[in-house]
Amino acid sequence: MKLADIGELDAPVLLFGGPYSNLHATQAVFAEAARRGIHADHVICTGDVVAYCAHAAETVALIRAQGCAVVAGNCEKQLAGYEDNCGCGFDAGSTCDLLSAGWYAHANQTVGAEDRAWMGAVPDVVSFVHHGERYTVIHGGLSDVSRFLWPTSNDTDYMEEIELVQQFIPDTSCIISGHCGLAFERHINGVRWVNAGVIGMPPHDGTPQTRYAVLSEGQATFHKLDYDHAAAAQAMQDAGLVQGYHQSLLSGYWPSEDLLPSDLRVSSRASG
Ligand SMILES: [Fe+2]
Repeated sequence: MKLADIGELDAPVLLFGGPYSNLHATQAVFAEAARRGIHADHVICTGDVVAYCAHAAETVALIRAQGCAVVAGNCEKQLAGYEDNCGCGFDAGSTCDLLSAGWYAHANQTVGAEDRAWMGAVPDVVSFVHHGERYTVIHGGLSDVSRFLWPTSNDTDYMEEIELVQQFIPDTSCIISGHCGLAFERHINGVRWVNAGVIGMPPHDGTPQTRYAVLSEGQATFHKLDYDHAAAAQAMQDAGLVQGYHQSLLSGYWPSEDLLPSDLRVSSRASG
């Protein structure tokens, strides 16, 4: 487990996950950081730089050029290891499994050896102190980089990961994560768990804006990211990435609810 302690960050920190090869969204989030006066040394990405969208190599290049801290997601792990799948552990034959075959193959063809070496070198865990509190940044879980912890998951699921994180970094009082695609904050046994959301795909809410978070004076706030989603979707079409995620950038809905717990599915929300 590789740890990067990036020291004391008392000024506002911009947190984002899942660029997902969405170059337009990644450009927008760095523009937003600049607009807020947040320098790249106070910007942290929770991983999955490369995934569904069209501009895998370009998105990696932008993230590397900016020099923000990046935690390794499952996509970094798999590409660094020259694996042939995204490492999400989707059930064989499920919609997510079938869709990932399309986008992962595209990413696998377009990310070069040097970028894969960089992906293999980024830390699994980033830690920092903000206003006297210890924050630890992971991707999905510490037990499993691809663990899906949802806003509605049981406290016991969170406690398993919190205990592992606190064994690794005992004074952690706030955990920052990504991976599941939704931005939220939970409070469990005195520990705050903040999922910063993802910028590369909307949160299945019917609008194309994506999410990021800002940590300021000890409080995390969530923000909508406006970006040129139509151009990002067109680039996916141009690249032949037409399995469904290109429409998600426009509609705001994921192509499948296979992964989502039933209480987070649109049908469940509609029926109350
Ligand atoms: Fe992930």
